[in-house]
Amino acid sequence: PLPAAADLLDIAVAVARRAADLARSMRDRGVEGISTKSTDTDIVTAADRAVEQQVIEDLRIRRPDDAVMGEESGAVDGRDSRVRWILDPIDGTVNYLYGLPVYAVSLAAEVDGVVVAGVVRNPATGDEWTATRGGGAYSGGRRLAGSQVTELGQALVGTGFGYDAARRAHQARVLAQVLPRVRDVRRMGAAAIDLCLAAEGALDAVYEKGLNLWDYAAGGLVAEEAGLRVTGLAGAPPSGEMVVAAPEALYRPLHDLLVAFDATGGP
Ligand code: IPD
Repeated sequence: PLPAAADLLDIAVAVARRAADLARSMRDRGVEGISTKSTDTDIVTAADRAVEQQVIEDLRIRRPDDAVMGEESGAVDGRDSRVRWILDPIDGTVNYLYGLPVYAVSLAAEVDGVVVAGVVRNPATGDEWTATRGGGAYSGGRRLAGSQVTELGQALVGTGFGYDAARRAHQARVLAQVLPRVRDVRRMGAAAIDLCLAAEGALDAVYEKGLNLWDYAAGGLVAEEAGLRVTGLAGAPPSGEMVVAAPEALYRPLHDLLVAFDATGGP
């Protein structure tokens, strides 16, 4: 039988807390094993690998037949591909490297290709955001409901940038159009946390081009369950091409602005 979303969330939270403890203790000892991935700005550390390995092992114990997709190891097969875990061991690796307390373990569970449970936990602060599909989004025992702001001109908008120079140049051109039209822009450095901050109304909306599924699977569900619309530019579902998360009143103006300035164009 397929597991209930609440049961998957319980597992996700237990596994993510242990993962967060490992990330934090490795950080306290000093960041080691730094190397680059797709570009010179795209870094990975020994902690990214160790946390991912621990999560995969923890999931194997509790759910031996499930598939796992992790940022560092790609797809790990399971015998039952109907349940798949999507993991970013450390979202915000650059913040982690610099000791900025904005990074997260992000873990989501998909059933038949639909994300049904997700947790994002910041090891540096202990902040934790959770959601189950249809069951709402929570942090610290509070149910999350997004922001009440209705004017884009009064919106604090989170975004982020990829690691590829040509993509960044394009993102900078779009940002130059967005920035004069909003209250301000924040680049926190961890997309999973951006989405959770939008869920709790600490950001009014979020957009970013070029995210990977592991960056937004858990945080996207948290935002959606907090009542935000979470899509791509062509509508739902969000994709690597674009993730836009905004409360209903801000969604259309932000979406239209991004379309007008060809935010999905470029590399
Ligand atoms: C990155 C962060 C960053 C976002 C990048 C992501 P990583 O994830 O979420 O905020 O702007 O697009 O790649 O590499 O630190 O796991």
